[in-house]
Amino acid sequence: PLNTRGYLAVVIGLGVAVMLLVQSGDPLDSARNGPPVWSDSGLLARAVICVIAGCSLLALGWLHGLLFGPLEMLRGPDDVGYIAEDGRSRAQAANEVRRRRKTGELPPVFPNGWYRVLDSRRLQIGEVKSVSVLGEQVAVFRGQDGTAYVVDAYCPHLGANLAVGGRVVGGCIECPFHGWQFRGNDGKCVRIPYAEKVPEFAKVRCWPSCEVNGQILVWFHCDGEDPRWTIPEQPEITTGEWVYRGRTEHFINAHIEEIPENAADIAHLAHLHTPAITSGVDLRYTNSRAWEFLRHDWKVQWEPEPEPNKHCSQMSVKHALTVFGCHCPLLDVRVVARQVGPGVVFLLFDHSFLGRGVILQCVTPVEPLLQWVSHTIFYQSNIPPLVPKFVLRAECIQFERDVMIWNNKKYISKPLLVKEDSAIQKHRRWFSQFYSENSPQLQYQRDTLDF
Ligand code: FES
Ligand SMILES: [Fe+2]
Repeated sequence: PLNTRGYLAVVIGLGVAVMLLVQSGDPLDSARNGPPVWSDSGLLARAVICVIAGCSLLALGWLHGLLFGPLEMLRGPDDVGYIAEDGRSRAQAANEVRRRRKTGELPPVFPNGWYRVLDSRRLQIGEVKSVSVLGEQVAVFRGQDGTAYVVDAYCPHLGANLAVGGRVVGGCIECPFHGWQFRGNDGKCVRIPYAEKVPEFAKVRCWPSCEVNGQILVWFHCDGEDPRWTIPEQPEITTGEWVYRGRTEHFINAHIEEIPENAADIAHLAHLHTPAITSGVDLRYTNSRAWEFLRHDWKVQWEPEPEPNKHCSQMSVKHALTVFGCHCPLLDVRVVARQVGPGVVFLLFDHSFLGRGVILQCVTPVEPLLQWVSHTIFYQSNIPPLVPKFVLRAECIQFERDVMIWNNKKYISKPLLVKEDSAIQKHRRWFSQFYSENSPQLQYQRDTLDF
């Protein structure tokens, strides 16, 4: 699809084309004595020049986007990680995998914690957005004072969706059906246009939310408890020293815990992520001969953090690239991946000359076995945007290899581990702090799913 720049280029191109075509008479004939620019060329030549001009403008727009614009890659739920064969579409293949897959003995499906619902820049003052999170529908809106609020989408009056046609009035949202107005900060109904009195119990559920690092997040706790920790601010983002350079979004069919568990699964790095990113994401071909000379080399360590940050854990990564077995030190990268609760990871990059930045990885459960994952990169503003875009793209290729595993795997509650896998058990113990007695479980008759 064309972006604004694309449209602009097309409009200018068409404008120039029209101008040239209508000026078909010989300018020397006219009363004015301007230079006879087009007098020698025929209509066809003009048309060709117009097309070339239009194409060059489009190409310029594209080049500008490539060099300076952000990288935005939004993948649909069946875009990545399924094998579509025998004339089936990707969607059919994905559906079949989802229907037939064994889920295993799953932990609770919605851990307690903070989850991203929207990027700040996608919510202007007075705007409302509908978002599906944690098996619920919520309305996210920005009041006239600039504060973002998250409330249940369904109006308690007769159930209309506040995010579909609802209007922001001050710090309230007005229902599109009968015009009841609900306050964003506590959900209380403050106005019923046709009633004399607003009853005390007229309220919509209001989610604790925060806005930090260019994102709006909600707090989920199965018992409705208040937030136990906060999402740390990355000061370079707030001050504008690091700027937005792009994002990728994926939908993954897996239990949420399987995604962070990847950080503690040290052995999979040497196997799944060693083939060069040039050999792509389809696991059937990543070990192709053609790119064998290029390898990624990983050294990783995973540790939970001590009190008072026991909701955090850290993975430190050393990445090296080898070409024909020779180490090429220019591409040595050190990354610290700091996980904050079940849904947010800060991947901090520090490179000697490619600069510093962060990828925010956010995992938000949409349904019990559907995770919405975003990677958003903020990078030093004085580094050419191509650098962070390459970093994000490279990360995305490695990530999509994991997606192919996740989408098709089963959760194994008692995995068959060897001594070298011990961090995985450690991770499961660490992650269990986000479940409590009433955490929602996936509810269905497992036996009836056997074919
Ligand atoms: S359904 Fe919302 S005001 Fe009636
Ligand atoms: Fe991985």
